[in-house]
Amino acid sequence: MLQTKELTIRFGGHVAVNAVSCTFAPGTLTAIVGPNGAGKTTYFNLISGQLKASSGTVFLNGEDISGLSASARTLAGLGRAFQLTNLFPNLSVLENVRLAVQATHHGKHRRGLNLWSIWSDHKALLQRAEEILEIVAMQGKAAMPVASLPHGDQRKLEVALLMALESQVFMFDEPTAGMSTDEAPVILNLIRQLKQDKSKTILLVEHKMDVVRELADRIIVLHNGALVADGEPAEVIASPIVQEAYLGASPQNAFAQDRTPPHPGLPPRGERSEQP
Ligand SMILES: Nc1ncnc2c1ncn2[C@@H]1O[C@H](COP(=O)(O)OP(=O)(O)O)[C@@H](O)[C@H]1O
Ligand SMILES: [Mg+2]
Repeated sequence: MLQTKELTIRFGGHVAVNAVSCTFAPGTLTAIVGPNGAGKTTYFNLISGQLKASSGTVFLNGEDISGLSASARTLAGLGRAFQLTNLFPNLSVLENVRLAVQATHHGKHRRGLNLWSIWSDHKALLQRAEEILEIVAMQGKAAMPVASLPHGDQRKLEVALLMALESQVFMFDEPTAGMSTDEAPVILNLIRQLKQDKSKTILLVEHKMDVVRELADRIIVLHNGALVADGEPAEVIASPIVQEAYLGASPQNAFAQDRTPPHPGLPPRGERSEQP
């Protein structure tokens, strides 16, 4: 169970996320929608620990994790898509996934120095890594260095790493943005697959309303950093607050806005430094 209480961050005078309180239960896919600059990505960054909150609390399974670093939160089960800078760019795809499997595995069953168990572990870890690459349809790219992967494969690898880490919470921020029309369905299928596992909590920021409608069990709406609606998809899409906030836009494309950087002075997301 993931929970935020009055989670808030200010950048100078600007309140980017404003006292957001919300609980995300296992077995639920929550779509987070709202216009550009609403605070969706910042909210994710506060949950995952990439950004430190000005005030408010993040709880995971009842424990206050607000003081933990991003990497400690990852090990605790919060899966925020990786940036390639977190990986070993010159190691192969398979090796990177194996390292993620290993990180989880060692955290869970530390057995001391025993050559037999190291050897048999190694085989098991490699096998698990190969399985995961099959799930994300990247077995053909196993030997490629991560640095040379095309964009779509990088995004798939991010999901593979979250699977390898056995994350409890999966956060997807516009997972198909910038993907080609044949790559996007692969990622959406992965999310569908993850949804089958009722122990997973999935958060999805997505502009495409048809995708939201299909995948979401619940929608929350952020607007100017605040949570302004929360409920069943059909109900939220039809709600007066959403209709009013996006007056003139039909519910189908109410959130389909252009994706220019929110601040003219800031580089597009991904090039900003958001490390703690
Ligand atoms: N590192 C930062 N420094 C200053 N302002 C930021 C930073 N990150 C986000 N913001 C601002 O916070 C607000 C919310 O941004 P963001 O979370 O990226 O919105 P969304 O993901 O909903 O489009 C925007 O006004 C944005 O310019
Ligand atoms: Mg965003």
